[in-house]
Amino acid sequence: MGGDDDGDLRPPADLRPEIPHPARMYDYYLGGKDHFPADREAAEKVMALSPLVRISALANRAFLGRAVHHLAASGVRRFIDIGTGIPTAGNTHQVAQQVHPDARVVYLDNDPIVLVHSRALLSGTTPESTAVVQADLREPAAILKAPEVREVLDSGQPVALLLFAVLHFIDEADDPHAIVRTLVDALPAGSHLAISHATGDFAPPADAAKGPALYRNASAQLTMRSREQVLRFFDGLELLEPGLVTAPLWRPDREPEPADARVAFWAGVGRKA
Ligand SMILES: C[S@@+](CC[C@H](N)C(=O)[O-])C[C@H]1O[C@@H](n2cnc3c(N)ncnc32)[C@H](O)[C@@H]1O
Repeated sequence: MGGDDDGDLRPPADLRPEIPHPARMYDYYLGGKDHFPADREAAEKVMALSPLVRISALANRAFLGRAVHHLAASGVRRFIDIGTGIPTAGNTHQVAQQVHPDARVVYLDNDPIVLVHSRALLSGTTPESTAVVQADLREPAAILKAPEVREVLDSGQPVALLLFAVLHFIDEADDPHAIVRTLVDALPAGSHLAISHATGDFAPPADAAKGPALYRNASAQLTMRSREQVLRFFDGLELLEPGLVTAPLWRPDREPEPADARVAFWAGVGRKA
């Protein structure tokens, strides 16, 4: 695990461009420019399954923006964003700092290419406002020991723990519910947990396994979860209105459309009493 103070923006040796990376595939869905041919090829195969793939990725990103804005507007100034992704438009610190210029965001991701991009993007920000840490969500105890995370937690102020589009890369064998519990237990009272999670709930049964199958050769595997499974991540928390809904239906800032109810991402925000 490394902090953000080495200032080294050189590409790491292990980008493995020949292996599709979820972060670069997601960047391709969003219309970004940080991907290699293997990422594009794998992403095109996933998108061929359904036009909803790109729509869902964009809807997830829009949910991130609305959720972070809502949390900042309700007074949260500290954010821990795990599974950051390659920086694109509307990153967490940009949304939060529109509301609180002094908002502090700790970004964590286990993908070296994400780290390189994040550090380059953040090189213009003040060191106090953002930090980038290489960490694996499957190791919550190590995450909680990272000095950048400790500093945020030790402030005693409410924190928003953001797990946007990352838990579906955690296999059941790694017990994602226990991971989330460990992290939530460490948050001060009044903190929030925000989650978005890919689901096969709306896919015909024959198609539900095809997405995960296409990620089989990627650097992280995809595990879709049902609404009930995603709801369990919020056990012990008070779910904010409107509860766990598909991403476009979480406090929408436009008139809902019929297709919104079938977007393949569950999204919700819970509060720790
Ligand atoms: C689809 S992107 C989501 C980006 C952003 N959170 C969003 O919702 O727009 C998923 C990110 O999770 C990261 N990731 C996957 N498995 C991870 C793990 N075990 N630990 C930390 N990050 C992980 C990937 O590297 C990628 O950057």
